[in-house]
Amino acid sequence: MTDSARIQQLFDLTGRVAIVTGGAGLLGYHHGAILAAAGASVVLLDLAVANPQMRAEQLTKEYGPQCLGLPADITSESSLLEARNAILAKFGRIDILINNAANNPKVEDQRPGQPWSRLENFPLATWNADIAVGLTGAFLCSRIFGQQMVQQNKGVIVNVASDLAVIAPDQRIYRKDGLADDQQPVKPVTYSVVKTALIGLTRYLSTYWTAHNIRVNAISPGGVANNQPDEFTAKLHQLIPMGRMAHKDEYQGAILFLCSDASSYMTGHNLVIDGGRSVL
Ligand SMILES: NC(=O)c1ccc[n+]([C@@H]2O[C@H](COP(=O)([O-])OP(=O)(O)OC[C@H]3O[C@@H](n4cnc5c(N)ncnc54)[C@H](O)[C@@H]3O)[C@@H](O)[C@H]2O)c1
Repeated sequence: MTDSARIQQLFDLTGRVAIVTGGAGLLGYHHGAILAAAGASVVLLDLAVANPQMRAEQLTKEYGPQCLGLPADITSESSLLEARNAILAKFGRIDILINNAANNPKVEDQRPGQPWSRLENFPLATWNADIAVGLTGAFLCSRIFGQQMVQQNKGVIVNVASDLAVIAPDQRIYRKDGLADDQQPVKPVTYSVVKTALIGLTRYLSTYWTAHNIRVNAISPGGVANNQPDEFTAKLHQLIPMGRMAHKDEYQGAILFLCSDASSYMTGHNLVIDGGRSVL
């Protein structure tokens, strides 16, 4: 085999079926795009309001493999069972799951006089909702789609954590001029809790299904540039040795690596991709 054929073989996903939760969102779509570009049929699972069908049509048109957009709520067991049935009816298999969906509340939108993001005020309903999507959703998807992988005796799960799974948020970067300390926005507690717990879920699952050749890893991405306010961006850049946030397609290499046979001896790992932020 030539070197280029070997490289092609390591990263080739032709015939595999990959599910991306939150697949119609900013990063989920890009994760789906690299898997489709490598030959996988990609299923974008997302809330109906995010229009995963339209995004999946875009993938099919751009990359070739038949892709599917399925409206589903990952906090609902019945919604996920329906999604699994629809995927199996169309493709007959499930090879890859990327647990990517999460609530990402924008604390910069916090209104003056309503500092809901602060720990002292953090609503129980928001705590429950964030855990339900980011953690319970990942557990349910792993359980429901993972069992199909068990039947196939092979599979890959990637959990999307965050640099805030390995370091604490630096609340100074969220501060706004002119606000009293008890009115300042902060990164919500649920973000750190959900992302850290996903590393635990990754470790647990990675040894649970090894006999069935199911590999489970996590990625911990740093922040992605997405028109954040200049003041915030400047403060964050100071904390990152590479001096910038990520571009939205800069996690595609890691996603393809972890989902393909290029990482065939890797399981239980958390791949940190953060411009060096957590090294400091
Ligand atoms: N954007 C960043 O800077 C960044 C950095 C590190 C980690 N991450 C993580 O990457 C992942 C994707 O982030 P993003 O920036 O693309 O966020 P996003 O908000 O654009 O996408 C999240 C998607 O999840 C979907 N979703 C929410 N609740 C759902 C539910 N109950 N069922 C199904 N889908 C649901 C949303 O509709 C949305 O499309 C998240 O886990 C996020 O925490 C993002």
